[in-house]
Amino acid sequence: MISSHGPDEYRMRESLLNAAGEFETPLYVYDMHAIYSNLQNIRSAFSPGTQIHYACKALDNGHVLRQLREWGCGIDAVSQEELMIALRCGFEPEDINFTPSGAPLSEYLWALEKRINVHVDNLQILELLGQQKCGLQVSLRFNPQVRSGGHVHLQVGADDSKFGLHAEEMDNVSKLVKKYHIDVRRIHVHVGSDIKTEEDFLLCWEKAFALAEEYSETVQIVDLGGGFGVQYFPDDPVLDIDRLGAEVNKLVEQHLQKTGKRVVLMLEPGKSIVGNAGYLLVEITAIKKLKNSHIVYVNSGFNHMLRPMYYGAHHRFENLSNPNAVKSTYKLVGYLCETDTFSESVELPEVRRGDILCMYNAGAYAMAMASNYNSRRRPAEVALMDGQVKLIRRRESLEDILSTVIKL
Ligand code: LLP
Repeated sequence: MISSHGPDEYRMRESLLNAAGEFETPLYVYDMHAIYSNLQNIRSAFSPGTQIHYACKALDNGHVLRQLREWGCGIDAVSQEELMIALRCGFEPEDINFTPSGAPLSEYLWALEKRINVHVDNLQILELLGQQKCGLQVSLRFNPQVRSGGHVHLQVGADDSKFGLHAEEMDNVSKLVKKYHIDVRRIHVHVGSDIKTEEDFLLCWEKAFALAEEYSETVQIVDLGGGFGVQYFPDDPVLDIDRLGAEVNKLVEQHLQKTGKRVVLMLEPGKSIVGNAGYLLVEITAIKKLKNSHIVYVNSGFNHMLRPMYYGAHHRFENLSNPNAVKSTYKLVGYLCETDTFSESVELPEVRRGDILCMYNAGAYAMAMASNYNSRRRPAEVALMDGQVKLIRRRESLEDILSTVIKL
């Protein structure tokens, strides 16, 4: 977090303002040191052999992916396109998970052909794959029937969600496993996103171990998914991942006692690795002073950052250009021809047209969910590392947007 005090905060504000000056706004900035320290925090909470497969849907810039590969991460991918990006970034197939939901059979077959680990969450797909490939090695993603997550869209472990093999399907799963000699190498569960309750994780993970016990002859890995909640504001509750690491070790030991097998743990964090490392820099285009509210317009909208509008998410903002001024309350909106409110009420140091605002926690599901709505170009992305700023994705051009349209 940046306040107007302290040398680190001051340096970061300077770096962000310099980046905005050099590369213009709107601009995404990623602090690579923050990504590294988030990764290390997760690593130190879990036992040393735990494998971390970064969920690249959160932020899929290849420069970030390559860096995470160098730091020892694998990848969790959910589409053939993400798989292709991961391979191009140098990830070995055995370090890539394919965890789609609703993907066509052809994508599963392509992944299997490349020897990528496939996570199946659909009975019909399991049967089709079993028919095609004798001795198929798969991971079973099951639905844990636990409703948890920061927004209804993020509660993917609930029994009415589309994700995972549902409890009522599990008898048929075991019939298919026998019928087609399917080799169940892994059990997979993903509770949801933005989860701050340790009990919800533990409940799901216990269920994952119960299923691993059923398939203990073949299961080698238990993949516990992602979903670790992050702090959007300094007063937000903090998820105790050290406790999660300690509790899951007990599950591993119990499994060993019951089955004689020591499974490897796998995690698929996305937001908790890149979320707080990202900043969206925008510029104030206009201010409208009404009797009851002061509306501040910026050169961005849900085309660049969907989270406030889609999940009702609240992100912290700062006025980088005028940090020490007296604060007032504003309504913060974008420049789309649509309701694109970032915040109904945000407290900021006095704003002026042309000021640079910074939106915090803009590393995850931010640029990755951007679009060209209103034919607006998507922002550039830069990485901050060792005091250097590096352009890692140029701003889109009009030609980029038009390139797929058949010539008129
Ligand atoms: N593994 C699987 C199978 C997932 O579906 C996801 C996220 C993750 C791992 C990583 O979850 P994370 O650690 O990032 O919470 N756009 C939403 C989040 C959607 C997450 C989708 N799946 C947001 O902006 O909050």
